Amino acid sequence: MCTGQYKRKDHYYKLAKKMGFRSRAAFKLIQINKKFRVIRKGDIVVDLGAAPGGWSQVALEAVGEEGFVLAVDIKPLDIFKQNNFAFLKRDIFDEDIQQEIMDLLPRKPNVVLSDVSPNISGIWEIDHAKQISMAERTFEIAKEILRGNGGFLVKVFQGRETSDFYTKLKESFKFVKRYKPQASRTRSSEIYIVATKLKGVINRG
Ligand SMILES: C[S@@+](CC[C@H](N)C(=O)[O-])C[C@H]1O[C@@H](n2cnc3c(N)ncnc32)[C@H](O)[C@@H]1O
Repeated sequence: MCTGQYKRKDHYYKLAKKMGFRSRAAFKLIQINKKFRVIRKGDIVVDLGAAPGGWSQVALEAVGEEGFVLAVDIKPLDIFKQNNFAFLKRDIFDEDIQQEIMDLLPRKPNVVLSDVSPNISGIWEIDHAKQISMAERTFEIAKEILRGNGGFLVKVFQGRETSDFYTKLKESFKFVKRYKPQASRTRSSEIYIVATKLKGVINRG
């Protein structure tokens, strides 16, 4: 018999197919953005851990023609044939990733998204530790490249280190909130942290 979770998985999976989204994850970003308006028209967005591209599709729609989306992933991604999209096939842990990202953007980004996940081993402590180190890395990248007042949306697998990470985000952003969108499976321990209004960066130009 189907549980509610599986029904919901089915629902978003089918809906993604029907609506032409590359992933069911696209609905998580749609729901988060509806609630928090992280991405706005004209924004420059960097999507870390972007393959197969569901979030990038949603971001492209949200920024419109005046905005720009750069997707980054260690895996290949079928590029969107639009002038306001670029793809960088890289590991987020590459040393010079910040510079490579900036070289592809028209200006400093308003928003950094991170849906990065490791391959799941099934051993909870290991998966949590790996994922949080990835989230930390994307936070480091975000802090270096974001415009002042910019926003950061990051996935975390909940566990021992989540609250320390949350505290660090609060030191850098004026608004920080945890959120689990409906499209995120109940049995999954993932949550999203929305952090906006980056402190301490002065925008020039
Ligand atoms: C859950 S998927 C992202 C789904 C995406 N948001 C979408 O809507 O299509 C997580 C992604 O993180 C990427 N990833 C994992 N480790 C990475 C790393 N070290 N550097 C860059 N990307 C990485 C994976 O290749 C995978 O595509």
